[in-house]
Amino acid sequence: MLIQKLEEQLHSREEEGRLIEPAPPQKTAHMTDFGSNDSLSFSSSGVLRTAFLKELGRHPNFTLGSRSTRIFEGTSQYLADLEDHLARFHGAESALFFNSGFDANVALWSTVPQPGDVVLYDQYVHASIHEGMRRGRAETRMFPHNDCAGLRQCLLDLRQKRPGVAEGSQSVFIALESVYSMDADSPPIQRMIQLVKEILPRGNGVLTMDEAHSNGLLGPDGSGYVSALGLQKEFPIRLHTCGKALGSTGGVILASTTIRSYIINYAKNIIFSTGPSFPVLAAVKAGYDLLASQEGETRRAQLQYNIAYFQEKLTTHPCWSMVKQHGVLSIPTEVTWASESFHAPIIPLNTRQGHAKSLARRLHQANYWVNPVHQPLVPKGKERVRLVLHADNTEAEIDEVLGLIMEWSMEQVGRTRISEDGWPQVACSI
Ligand SMILES: Cc1ncc(COP(=O)(O)O)c(C=O)c1O
Repeated sequence: MLIQKLEEQLHSREEEGRLIEPAPPQKTAHMTDFGSNDSLSFSSSGVLRTAFLKELGRHPNFTLGSRSTRIFEGTSQYLADLEDHLARFHGAESALFFNSGFDANVALWSTVPQPGDVVLYDQYVHASIHEGMRRGRAETRMFPHNDCAGLRQCLLDLRQKRPGVAEGSQSVFIALESVYSMDADSPPIQRMIQLVKEILPRGNGVLTMDEAHSNGLLGPDGSGYVSALGLQKEFPIRLHTCGKALGSTGGVILASTTIRSYIINYAKNIIFSTGPSFPVLAAVKAGYDLLASQEGETRRAQLQYNIAYFQEKLTTHPCWSMVKQHGVLSIPTEVTWASESFHAPIIPLNTRQGHAKSLARRLHQANYWVNPVHQPLVPKGKERVRLVLHADNTEAEIDEVLGLIMEWSMEQVGRTRISEDGWPQVACSI
């Protein structure tokens, strides 16, 4: 009976085109990577493997497993040293390492906000923040994505209706991400800080930043978005992950020693879970050493070059306006692109409803890996192909990917005539 119920639900997901089917490794292994979060190509290039093996060589007698939860003997000296290193690297008082960023968010949001506190979260924050809030004790409220007017209204409303908030005895957490993982845009951070200070002058606004998609990519040695802007003091809680630009796995909460100690005392996924094993920690240390090296600097610069190359070529293509006008494809970040000094490697190629799989298939057929994304990963009607640029993508590969995207797009527009050099020649007079 149970199996039948499960099958029915899977079947209806399939009917709606929403069934999640992990990409088969035999398919992705031989494709050029335009999909993964390994944006500095640390993992795919092998540079991280080399650094990792060196790190193992420095600790030939390592104990593989942590053997326990970290509240017993599972906190090795290596883990303690790594956490000190991460705190210094990111300019924080202390650091707390987790097996994943998801775990870190769940631990943070399920414990730190107290009963009576409120969490205001951006509409597009990651599922792990939602999961943590769901298990937490504070009231939660959403404000529209990157919307200062919406945030202001929420803050004013809370101050007016809750004496504890106005008096400063109840905290208001503001949950932001440095780069939103599906839309690749960043919050108007200075204005948001200013609003929180103005409306909550007693200092009970707690700004938090999830840096999953900026860790390693900007700031001194790749230390992140908040560090790049010198705003460490404005964000008492930050969260970085190691599974994206760092190329390995893990998550780290950067906060005061009190918050760190509180999470260790109250987070069930710390107390009742085995601590991280040595290879995970050594890979993270190797990744951070790479970030701070010339190799890291060069890869960051190459990645920014590749992103600019892709964006420039796509948006100046003679048919791009037509493709947008027909609603075939658009990039939400196009409007803000020129004014930003840092560009995220994620390019959301928004398609019409039901078309993302077709575009992804076209690129897969040519051996380029990208990910089509639909509900439940993004809201209904926000379907897209999530393309990610990497430091090791070559200009020739990017050109070919662009050619395929435009070829597919013009087929959708219905006026395709492919030129000999592979770029579509169409009447673009609009
Ligand atoms: C904003 C954000 N936070 C947290 C996570 C979870 O990190 P991890 O993959 O290390 O579990 C992700 C992963 O996609 C993310 O995008």
